Amino acid sequence: MSDVTLTIDGQSVTVPQGTTILQAANLLRKEIPTVCYHPHFTPPSLCRVCVVEVEKSRVLVQSCSRVAENGMVVKTDSPRVQLARRVLMEMLQSSVDLSDAPELQHYSDKYGADANRYGENTRRREFPLFDDNPFYVRDYSKCIMCWRCVQACGEDVQWTFAIHRAARGFGSHISTFEAVPIPESTCVYCGNCVQACPTGALKGKRAAWLEQGFDLKQLVRVSNLERREKS
Ligand code: SF4
Ligand code: FES
Repeated sequence: MSDVTLTIDGQSVTVPQGTTILQAANLLRKEIPTVCYHPHFTPPSLCRVCVVEVEKSRVLVQSCSRVAENGMVVKTDSPRVQLARRVLMEMLQSSVDLSDAPELQHYSDKYGADANRYGENTRRREFPLFDDNPFYVRDYSKCIMCWRCVQACGEDVQWTFAIHRAARGFGSHISTFEAVPIPESTCVYCGNCVQACPTGALKGKRAAWLEQGFDLKQLVRVSNLERREKS
């Protein structure tokens, strides 16, 4: 396979054909923010936080999925790119609870996002907390629909296909098929979705309990007692 040579922020780099702009930029130690991208998954190209400017391209392009081409001239941090990232962060902040997403908070600060720019009465994505199984809780008020959990559950890792997207538009959310509780779904409790989630929307029970101030030793004592009483 032949190589391609492109220019990123004025620096020339030669990479094997098929390399994405993001991977080429990483070789030059450029920091391009990503959200929906996970190095082990197929890029879903949904969030557009990784956009860069490519000379002669009318629109900004997603660096996580766009393959580098010979002679490409790329700008990873131009004013246009920064504006796009700022607006994306503002839209996320104004509609989703990002309190458990330190990486997104970092990007919001870095690009000067002001969530209040859209006024105080912006509609927020709010869902009930799903606590229906012994392994993890699902708080979709913190979900940015990045798709990483679906990929981890599906064909990029586990091939279990317990979750997918439900509803449309602003009300779209991740769900089990037919919205059944997790124990009635095909979930095998592998934990890959929890690991892949960048926002804390999916959280192991132990972490959720600790956050609520529960004494884990006490919880273990109670559950052991219950088990003994049942047997
Ligand atoms: S639950 Fe987490 S991993 Fe799944 S789509 Fe929402 S933010 Fe992404
Ligand atoms: S990281 Fe590239 S589109 Fe989300």
